[in-house]
Amino acid sequence: MAAKTIATSPFVGIAVFVTFVSLLAFYYKPLSKQRLFTVEELALYNGTDQSLPIFLGILGSVFDVTKGKSHYGEGGGYNHFSGRDASRAFVSGNFTGDGLTDSLSGLSSQQVKSIVEWRDFYFRTYIFVGKLVGRYYDPKGNPTKYLKGVEAKAARGAQLLKKQEIEEAKQPSCNSRWSQDEGGEVWCDVGVPRLVQRPLEIGLTGKMSKRCACFKEDQLSQPGLEVYKGCDYLAKTCPV
Ligand code: HEM
Ligand SMILES: *[C@@H]1O[C@H](CO)[C@@H](O)[C@H](O)[C@H]1NC(C)=O
Ligand SMILES: *[C@@H]1O[C@H](CO)[C@@H](O)[C@H](O)[C@H]1NC(C)=O
Repeated sequence: MAAKTIATSPFVGIAVFVTFVSLLAFYYKPLSKQRLFTVEELALYNGTDQSLPIFLGILGSVFDVTKGKSHYGEGGGYNHFSGRDASRAFVSGNFTGDGLTDSLSGLSSQQVKSIVEWRDFYFRTYIFVGKLVGRYYDPKGNPTKYLKGVEAKAARGAQLLKKQEIEEAKQPSCNSRWSQDEGGEVWCDVGVPRLVQRPLEIGLTGKMSKRCACFKEDQLSQPGLEVYKGCDYLAKTCPV
């Protein structure tokens, strides 16, 4: 009995120790040092005060963009992004008044995805300095429901886009050209041009959209194929 206790206890001791240390590491991480900004604090770093760095917020993540002073500093074309979170303007291009907001309400999954990609760009290009407390991070620096919703929407956008690419690869797209004097035309090397609805487009952009795809004669009875106005049923080229 005594021998057994002596034999196992060092292993039990090590196991307990390892468990303890990993639990500590796990729970310590969220508490680790991070800089949290209020809207007012972040506003100080808008490039006006030359003695301060320039900070930019996007989806609540704050980056030091001082090395991009020519864009983000006073007089720079993108100075409006400095000292605030104007996430919406990354897709709206509206840098005036209420356009400079971190609200993404009503944007499509593709637009939300594009803003998440801008955030990726800042992570790659600049130094992350902290988080802005508000819409995207709570006062403890944890992501809000809103941020999780945004990331889910962007992921859904990415998924839909991939599916759309796979679907559209099955039916070749028309060639097209456009010139000032001659106008535009679409044509097929194989098959004939038809206008078709993009089924996933509503989920991606919130709008209906059509594309031109090439169909062989034996496919022309499929539903949903629209002959170009002013174009013969079997014409290989159609004016647009
Ligand atoms: C929604 C509209 C737009 C947004 C949100 C936007 C945003 C930005 C941002 C944030 C940068 C700086 C990237 C960095 O830190 O290096 C940038 C750079 C640049 N943008 Fe835009 N942009 C927009 C439209 C345009 C348009 C329409 C043009 C051209 C006609 C343009 C031309 C450029 C150029 C040339 C640079 C690089 C400048 C350089 O590196 O010196 N942008 N853009
Ligand atoms: C930057 O912030 C300062 C101080 O808050 C303010 O006076 C100035 O107008 C701001 N500049 C811009 C371009 O927003
Ligand atoms: C920018 O957004 C504001 C507020 O939503 C709006 O009043 C203004 O017309 C927009 N400007 C442009 C150029 O779209």
